[in-house]
Amino acid sequence: MKLNSNDVEIPASSVGVYDAIFRRRSVKQFTPDPVSRETLERLFSAAVWAPNHRLTDPTRFFAVGKDSPMRRRVAEAAWQSTYDGVVNPNPEHKRRSADASRDRVLNAPAMVYVYSLPGANDEVTRENYATSCCAVQNMALAGVAEGLCMDWSTGGLTRIPGLADILGADEAWAMVGVVFLGRAAAVPTTQRMPHSEVVTWLE
Ligand SMILES: Cc1cc2nc3c(=O)[nH]c(=O)nc-3n(C[C@H](O)[C@H](O)[C@H](O)COP(=O)(O)O)c2cc1C
Repeated sequence: MKLNSNDVEIPASSVGVYDAIFRRRSVKQFTPDPVSRETLERLFSAAVWAPNHRLTDPTRFFAVGKDSPMRRRVAEAAWQSTYDGVVNPNPEHKRRSADASRDRVLNAPAMVYVYSLPGANDEVTRENYATSCCAVQNMALAGVAEGLCMDWSTGGLTRIPGLADILGADEAWAMVGVVFLGRAAAVPTTQRMPHSEVVTWLE
């Protein structure tokens, strides 16, 4: 079944598009406040309305429930993967890094793995991946409207051995990232070049 955008119930929000764009920050420290299933449903609804050449619906989301057996399973796999991957041979150092990985998984109020499906050829695969990145950004911007921040990572937690199998994803799908969501405990600052340095006006 496919939805027409007129069928989508648009959530009420006082946050404007520009507010969301400029106020969105990548946040790693969250308060313990939970993120409800209903809130996540609104973010996923925003996500699937990313622009999508050929209407391939290429993005797949795996929402790993807080305090669920699956969250604990991913956390243990993250612990082992980090422990095995730490270059420093000091076992105490390895354990500390592994504990930090496990705690990051266990403590995040919401956690979603995002994958992008391959297309029939490289061009479509690339378009699909672009759509999936837009989908994550839609989630981030809708998150701002919900008072949430996101941490989008393509780091070690996306390279856990056997992860696709654990989640029920297909090994052939492209990893877009793991996103953590919650209320910010601390909001970092960041910088960008002014747009005047990256735009060429052609007349
Ligand atoms: C595709 C993608 C992957 C990212 N992966 C990581 C990551 O692995 N580790 C990390 O610390 N931040 C990661 N980030 C967050 C960026 O570091 C962050 O966007 C950047 O510092 C700018 O901050 P801002 O998002 O608050 O504007 C990622 C962001 C994107 C878009």
